Amino acid sequence: MMINHKIIRSKMKKTGALLGHPILANHVPKTVWCNLQNLHKMISLFRVIYVKPDAGHQGHRVFRVHRINEHEGVLSSQNASRKIALPGGLTELLPIISKNQYIIQQGIDLATLNNRPFDIRVIMQKPYATWELTLTSAKVALKEDAVVTNVARGAEDYPLNHILQVYDQKQDPMATLREIVDLAHQMAGYLSTKFPLRIIGFDLALDKKGKVWFIEANTWPQCARCKLVNDKVSRRKYERSSKIMGFKDN
Ligand SMILES: Nc1ncnc2c1ncn2[C@@H]1O[C@H](COP(=O)(O)OP(=O)(O)OP(=O)(O)O)[C@@H](O)[C@H]1O
Ligand SMILES: [Mg+2]
Repeated sequence: MMINHKIIRSKMKKTGALLGHPILANHVPKTVWCNLQNLHKMISLFRVIYVKPDAGHQGHRVFRVHRINEHEGVLSSQNASRKIALPGGLTELLPIISKNQYIIQQGIDLATLNNRPFDIRVIMQKPYATWELTLTSAKVALKEDAVVTNVARGAEDYPLNHILQVYDQKQDPMATLREIVDLAHQMAGYLSTKFPLRIIGFDLALDKKGKVWFIEANTWPQCARCKLVNDKVSRRKYERSSKIMGFKDN
């Protein structure tokens, strides 16, 4: 067990804290509690919304609604997609969201590699008083229209540096990496003023225009697969910090 570290399961708690920061909030998708009224509101504001459990894990029970036009949308889960009427068809989500607390999040139009969406994992650790970046990876989804990019759902980890140099909407890889690292540091610093934290696995995303977004902050991240695509120096840094803080990744 780690000291001075608390597992925060609620996505709304972590996301809500970041939404309260005047600069960092610009990199956080709009996020509200899920109910029918908010579903209506969010799908009228955004072409794509995500509906996911507040304390979810590994991409389970994540849904996406894509608005095609004023009257039609597509409701997708990990296994299936089908057309629904808008807004009437949104009631199909009610039995699902009645079982647990769900949140609705503005959908980010994820950058792609060979048309497959990817997001980014950044592991930040605080072995002593300051945060350091240890592991990074890009998690590329299995197929083109995938709803989630979780490695537990079949996505694959690749070296982040490499992906930034070859992805479909490639911009300046160094500038993008700088933004990713800067955002992860700022967010780790700010979140640890709100909660006692010593390790955070950030799910960040690039949209198709190259903007960096926050998706989720995991306070007990799985690192085994991510570790494999990192260089020796990063892996050693990760192992050393993990040992100091008594962190085991599964
Ligand atoms: N707002 C969003 N826009 C685009 N893609 C999203 C969004 N929210 C989630 N996703 C996709 O769904 C995946 C799972 O979402 P998220 O990381 O929030 O939940 P989780 O993985 O189930 O929870 P945890 O990260 O705690 O295990 C993300 O990695 C991403 O691929
Ligand atoms: Mg996740």
